[in-house]
Amino acid sequence: MDSVEKRGKSSIGYDLLGRTAIIEFRGPRSQARRAALELMKFDRRAETVLLKSGPVEGRYRTRKLSYIAGVRRYNVEYRENGCLFKFDPRKTFFSSRLSFERSRILKLAKDGEEVCVMFAGVGPFAIELAKKFKGSIVTAIEENPDSVRYMKDSITINKTPNAIPVTGDVKKVAKNYRESADRIIMPLPWSSLDFLDEALTIAKRTAVVHIYIIGKTKNLVADSWKKISAHAKRNRYSVKKLFSREVRTYSPTESEIVIDYRIRKL
Ligand SMILES: C[S@@+](CC[C@H](N)C(=O)[O-])C[C@H]1O[C@@H](n2cnc3c(N)ncnc32)[C@H](O)[C@@H]1O
Repeated sequence: MDSVEKRGKSSIGYDLLGRTAIIEFRGPRSQARRAALELMKFDRRAETVLLKSGPVEGRYRTRKLSYIAGVRRYNVEYRENGCLFKFDPRKTFFSSRLSFERSRILKLAKDGEEVCVMFAGVGPFAIELAKKFKGSIVTAIEENPDSVRYMKDSITINKTPNAIPVTGDVKKVAKNYRESADRIIMPLPWSSLDFLDEALTIAKRTAVVHIYIIGKTKNLVADSWKKISAHAKRNRYSVKKLFSREVRTYSPTESEIVIDYRIRKL
């Protein structure tokens, strides 16, 4: 998140998606508009400012946004790791705050791997991997039809026909991709631990999993790892933790973490 505060001008934080700044502001709309205009003066990249008008909610993890200043438009064009994504952030989840994680995984993956991205959104993990690794097939499962529509557009724009969009619920479609993946990405942090069965279904006999989890910060990695390893052992897999880190602070007491691990069928 960028912040106007850094320059000591005001106390408003914002996310920049291309030319659109997204702000959070508690207080009257008139004040929000003043803060937005100030932001646009401070950061000339921001041509449009949208105001967060509700929490991220529902199965599709979307959020209400309302226009507050600048050019009146909702469609954004966002670039990351050499790829361009076009979408309306009211209709699909997207977080630029995961860009570091996408870069990190781009460095770990190898050409020729078969990858499955569960909960793929508009496809940033999938399309960036497919762009870098032309010899890889990247299956991207997402149940929000709007996100899949934007993902298909971005596959065309970025010339990544090796990213394969799949519309559907991971719980229902996992069986169609049995033993297909060398690498699995699970970016649904509130409930990814409910999809460990599906990860084993999709994994080849050995595979690497990157799982994102939100929870109470204290002991989050240790507690999550206990669940993952107990589940794997119950299903006759060996597991090895490769890496873990805090991705971001979610609230004063909660964090989002990532754990990378390898599974091997016994
Ligand atoms: C936190 S977002 C991650 C989006 C994307 N990976 C990114 O980095 O921008 C989670 C996404 O998972 C989708 N989703 C939630 N439950 C799902 C399920 N059971 N099967 C498929 N997609 C699901 C939501 O619609 C949402 O787009």
